[in-house]
Amino acid sequence: MNIVTNFSLINYNTFGVDATANQFTSVSSIKELKKIISTNESKEKIFIGGGSNILITKKIEGLVIHLNIKGISSKKLDNNYSEVNIKAGENWNEAVKWCLKNNLGGIENLSLIPGNTGAAPIQNIGAYGVELKDVFTSCEVLDLKTNEISEFSKEDCQFEYRNSIFKKNRNYIILSVKLKLTNTNHKLKIDYGSINEKLVLLGIENPKIADIANVVTQIRKEKLPDPKKLGNSGSFFKNPIINKRQLEQLKINFCDIPNYKISEESYKIPAGWLIEKAGFKGKRIKDYGVHKNQALVLVNYGNATGKEILKFSLSIQKAIKFIFNIELELEVNII
Ligand code: EPU
Repeated sequence: MNIVTNFSLINYNTFGVDATANQFTSVSSIKELKKIISTNESKEKIFIGGGSNILITKKIEGLVIHLNIKGISSKKLDNNYSEVNIKAGENWNEAVKWCLKNNLGGIENLSLIPGNTGAAPIQNIGAYGVELKDVFTSCEVLDLKTNEISEFSKEDCQFEYRNSIFKKNRNYIILSVKLKLTNTNHKLKIDYGSINEKLVLLGIENPKIADIANVVTQIRKEKLPDPKKLGNSGSFFKNPIINKRQLEQLKINFCDIPNYKISEESYKIPAGWLIEKAGFKGKRIKDYGVHKNQALVLVNYGNATGKEILKFSLSIQKAIKFIFNIELELEVNII
């Protein structure tokens, strides 16, 4: 386990921001991780996985620890279900592909989500009608305060839309994740608009899990920029949830406002629509901007700094507040 000083994090964040860490190391086992935590004297310790949901806005004075613990296995629970154990450092999409190859269903809608498996529970990743919590059973967690490992059940994780205990309490490091997936007779989720449309277009009448994965991959590739080509962190903001009265008021001026009913009283509004309506879609300033196909995604055209992107995001939040009286919350984690 090597500690490198003055290390550029450009290849460790999908925004492609060239920020420096005073110290950097990569750990590939729990033993190494526990050792570095107990021996390194830096007050500031920042843990990163795939770096796909962070925006680094400063030079990091302390130590950055890259979590690279790998491994994936499954065991059959009964005829219908298997339990898959995925270590935190496994790339999420590679883990999805592994499950598809082993004919295990339940996460095909979550294909091509960037990042590592250890980050998946933090924001309860979700796409095309499925969230991690739908298949999650437990995860193994290291408590930085005690350097002890324990198992968190689904209830312990307090999952909500793009939220969990791990967003609120930064002392927990996820080491591995257990999912309950189906062996057979999997009920596919194809009701999310564009999945169905694509299946019809391709003439697929009886889709299998691999078909759903292919379709989702295609949709994502069409809409979302590939971080290898254009720096980004996926959705920069969460979709806001507003109450019925607010929605009725907004409909007076914006009769076409899209909305998804969550309960009698609350409605989710696509932040992408709000940002597009406010005129930001495709807008570029210097080396940062809003993506041309998906207004929820901020992009780095090359040499943007984290500070510039953060400042830009604040101006978007301000505009949305002014025009719609809606507070946009950040989805990415600011470092
Ligand atoms: N929309 C626009 N303009 C845009 C983008 C979106 O008007 O530029 C409106 C349209 O009405 C569209 C609706 O927003 O029908 C929904 O758009 P989309 O299906 O692209 O989904 P989203 O709500 O913008 C969420 C997730 C994505 C996930 C997709 C698909 C959040 C914050 N984002 O985006 O997750 O892939 O649904 O399920 O919930 C991510 O978290 O990084 C991410 C990409």
